[in-house]
Amino acid sequence: MQRNYNHTTIVTIEKVIDETPTVRTLVFSDDVMPSVLPGQFAMVWIPGINELPMSVMISDESGKAAFTVRKHGVASTGLFNVKVGQQIGIRGPYGNSFDLKEGKLLLVGGGTGLVPMMRLLTHVKHTDDVTVLIGAKSKNEVFFEELANRLLTNNTHKVIVSTDDGSYGEKGFVTDLVEKHLNQTKYDAVYVCGPEIMMYKTVQSAHSRGVFVQASLERMMKCGVGICGSCCMGEDLVCKDGTVFDGEHLSQNKEFGNYHRNKAGILENY
Ligand SMILES: Cc1cc2nc3c(=O)[nH]c(=O)nc-3n(C[C@H](O)[C@H](O)[C@H](O)COP(=O)(O)OP(=O)(O)OC[C@H]3O[C@@H](n4cnc5c(N)ncnc54)[C@H](O)[C@@H]3O)c2cc1C
Ligand code: FES
Repeated sequence: MQRNYNHTTIVTIEKVIDETPTVRTLVFSDDVMPSVLPGQFAMVWIPGINELPMSVMISDESGKAAFTVRKHGVASTGLFNVKVGQQIGIRGPYGNSFDLKEGKLLLVGGGTGLVPMMRLLTHVKHTDDVTVLIGAKSKNEVFFEELANRLLTNNTHKVIVSTDDGSYGEKGFVTDLVEKHLNQTKYDAVYVCGPEIMMYKTVQSAHSRGVFVQASLERMMKCGVGICGSCCMGEDLVCKDGTVFDGEHLSQNKEFGNYHRNKAGILENY
């Protein structure tokens, strides 16, 4: 029988990988999640705790997918603490995906925003020249650098890390690196996922130069399917109209980079 994507499927965690002191990857087997498109997400039920939207991470092993979670509040810490053999629920995949261009590509990821970027790397053509910029607060919060290099073995590529405190890679915000690269190179497309202020600056930098850019947004989500309205950003429902939006569209949206909605749906400044 065909799977109903809106019904929760129970999966068992088979492996837990510590990426940093606050980030873990939980690997599981599934029929659907290994082949989602870059940018798509799942709603993840942590029994007895809550349900959260999560980008679907790739796995080295066929038939498997993963979630890479940073412990933050109650729900993400509950997921972070799930052990091998424990079960979680998944529904989806939901949302659209990146529009894949060819040529010189610039990928920008901050924190767990790197998850959709890793999946995007599995879709690039061997002829693409790919630069990946990874932003982190400090050295012990850097992850997926080695994975990005491995996924791009057959491409002309660069993977560059920046840390806010300069403890690893280049010192400063990743958005400074974005400016530098956009000044030096004519890219065919820029893709970004991470904290909204990082996405806002990256979108502005690329769009103002006329470079095609797309961002995968993270907003408060409850239903994940366009019913509850908790993810609205102006006229857009991030779960249904996105999560991927292009720079032209985002430049018209007054909430992007400026306001978000809290759990009660009230607009707050970033
Ligand atoms: C499309 C998408 C993909 C994401 N992918 C990842 C990922 O790969 N890895 C990762 O670590 N995080 C990801 N997030 C963020 C994640 O869903 C949580 O927002 C984050 O982990 C913080 O949740 P929390 O409940 O621990 O923290 P808190 O900020 O303390 O949240 C408190 C409460 O607010 C609610 N809440 C907060 N944020 C959300 C939300 N976005 N949706 C629903 N309820 C929320 C919950 O009820 C929670 O109990 C993604 C978010 C989106 C929208
Ligand atoms: S999360 Fe409910 S409408 Fe988007």
